[in-house]
Amino acid sequence: MENLFRLVDQDQDFFQPKWTLVNGPIIVGAGPSGLAAAACLKEQGVPFVVVERADCIASLWQKRTYDRLKLHLPKQFCQLPKLPFPEDYPEYPTKRQFIEYLESYAKHFDINPKFNECVQSARYDETSGFWRVKTLVSTGSNKTQFEYICRWLIVATGENAESVMPDIEGLSEFGGDVIHACDYKSGEKFKGQKVLVVGCGNSGMEVSLDLCNHNASPSMVVRSSVHVLPREIFGKSTFELAVSMMKWLPLWLVDKLMLILAWLVLGNTEKYGLKRPSTGPLELKNKKGKTPVLDIGALEKIRSGDINVVPGIKRFSRGQVELVNGEKLEIDSVVLATGYRSNVPSWLEEGEFFGKNGYPKAESPQGWKGKAGLYAAGFTRRGLSGASSDAMRIAHDIGTVWKEENKQLKKRTIARHRRCISLSQF
Ligand SMILES: Cc1cc2nc3c(=O)[nH]c(=O)nc-3n(C[C@H](O)[C@H](O)[C@H](O)COP(=O)(O)OP(=O)(O)OC[C@H]3O[C@@H](n4cnc5c(N)ncnc54)[C@H](O)[C@@H]3O)c2cc1C
Ligand SMILES: NC(=O)c1ccc[n+]([C@@H]2O[C@H](COP(=O)([O-])OP(=O)(O)OC[C@H]3O[C@@H](n4cnc5c(N)ncnc54)[C@H](OP(=O)(O)O)[C@@H]3O)[C@@H](O)[C@H]2O)c1
Repeated sequence: MENLFRLVDQDQDFFQPKWTLVNGPIIVGAGPSGLAAAACLKEQGVPFVVVERADCIASLWQKRTYDRLKLHLPKQFCQLPKLPFPEDYPEYPTKRQFIEYLESYAKHFDINPKFNECVQSARYDETSGFWRVKTLVSTGSNKTQFEYICRWLIVATGENAESVMPDIEGLSEFGGDVIHACDYKSGEKFKGQKVLVVGCGNSGMEVSLDLCNHNASPSMVVRSSVHVLPREIFGKSTFELAVSMMKWLPLWLVDKLMLILAWLVLGNTEKYGLKRPSTGPLELKNKKGKTPVLDIGALEKIRSGDINVVPGIKRFSRGQVELVNGEKLEIDSVVLATGYRSNVPSWLEEGEFFGKNGYPKAESPQGWKGKAGLYAAGFTRRGLSGASSDAMRIAHDIGTVWKEENKQLKKRTIARHRRCISLSQF
C-alpha cells in the first residue's frame, strides 16, 4: 500500500486528464495577433483557449527585443482592435509602452493564456472532424504532454517565431561573442569593441546605431541590397503617406513616388554602399516579405563613417572576418541581425493552406482562412495592422457559425422543453 502511494506521489500528474475538449477555438500564440483574435472572439461571445510557449504574453516584445526599440509606424497603425492606445502615448510608442498596452489589453478582455505550453503538433482528424493539438507543458523542470481537441484552430505564432542563424564558414572558430539580434539588449556591454553586425534590415541598422551610441565601432554587412526610407517625409509618416497614395494610385507608381521622395530627403544612399533593389519597396515587401528600413538615425552615422558598411562575408577565423572583396577585419564580437522565420511547418501537419515557408500560400487579404476550421492571424507581412484585420475577420467568421448553432440549439431545447411541459399536462 505504502509503495502504491509512493508511486502516485512520484507521478504527480497521475490523476490529471491528458486531454481536453475545447468548446470553441484554440489560439496558438499569445502575441499581439493571438490577443487580438481572443479579444474579438470575446466580443462575439465565443469561448476559446490561448496556448503560449513562453511564460508571458507578447514574448517577442518582452524577451527578444532590444531596449531602445520603438514602434516604427505611427500608433494608429499599431493599436489592436476594440481598445485604442492611451491618449497620452507618443506618436511612436516605446517598447515598454507597447508591452504595457498589451498587458492592459489582455486584462481588459480577460484573456488568460495557458503559459509554458508549446504546441508540438496539430493535425485535423477527418473522421471526427476535430483538430488534435498536442502540447508540451513545462512546469519547472517537469515536462508533460497534453492534448486539446477542438473544432477551430487559429495559428498566431508569428512571422518571427524563430531566429535565422546563418551557417557561415569558420564562425565556430571565431572565438569572440556571437549573438543573434534577438538576444541583443543594448550596446552597453560592447563599449570600446569592434562589432560586426551581419544584416542591414531594421534590426541591423538599429543595432549598429545603438552600438555607436555606446561608443562601440560597428561594421555592418550589406551582402545584397536594401531600401532605406525616411521614417517621415516633410513631417508626415512615410507609411501613412504610402497608405494614402495606395488608395488612388497603382502600386508601381506609389513605389516610384516613394523613391523620389526618399531621394529628396536622404539623398543618394548607394554611394554609402546601400545599393537599392531593382524592385520598389512596397512591391518587394508584398512579393518577398522584405521590409524596407525606416531610418531613425543610422544613415547619418553611416554618412559620418561611425557605422562602417562592408560587403558580404567570405569566412571567419579567430578574431577576424574575411569579406568577399578580400578585405580582413579584426573584430571582437558578432551580432547576427539576420532575421526571423515562421515555425508553423515544424508543428502544423497540413500542406494545403500553409506553404513550406510557414506562411499561408494565399496572399493577404486572402490568407486568413483555410479549410476545416483552420485560420491564420498575423501572417500578412503587414505587421500589427495586418494582425488586427485578420483577428476581426476570423472572429466574425467563427462568431457567425457559433451564434447560428447556438440559435438552433436554443430552438431545439425550447421545443423539447415545451414537449415535456405538454406531456406532463396529461
Ligand atoms: C525587433 C522587432 C520589431 C518590430 N517592430 C514592429 C513595429 O514597430 N510595428 C509592427 O507592425 N511590427 C513590428 N514587428 C513585427 C512583429 O512581428 C509584430 O509587431 C508582432 O509582434 C506580431 O505579432 P504576432 O502575435 O503575430 O507574433 P509574435 O509577437 O511573434 O507572437 C507569437 C507568439 O506565439 C508564441 N509561439 C510561437 N510558437 C509557438 C508554439 N509552437 N506553441 C505555443 N506558442 C508559440 C511565441 O512565443 C509568441 O509569444 C517587429 C518585429 C521585430 C522582431
Ligand atoms: N520597430 C522597428 O523599428 C523594428 C526594428 C527591428 C525589426 N523590425 C521588424 O522585424 C522584422 C525583422 O527585421 P530584421 O531586420 O530582424 O530582419 P530582416 O528584415 O529579415 O533582415 C535580415 C538581414 O540579414 C541579412 N542576412 C541574412 N543572412 C545573411 C548572411 N548569411 N550574410 C549576410 N547577411 C545576411 C539579410 O540580407 P539579404 O537581404 O541579402 O537577405 C537582411 O539584410 C521586420 O519586419 C522588421 O521591420 C522592426
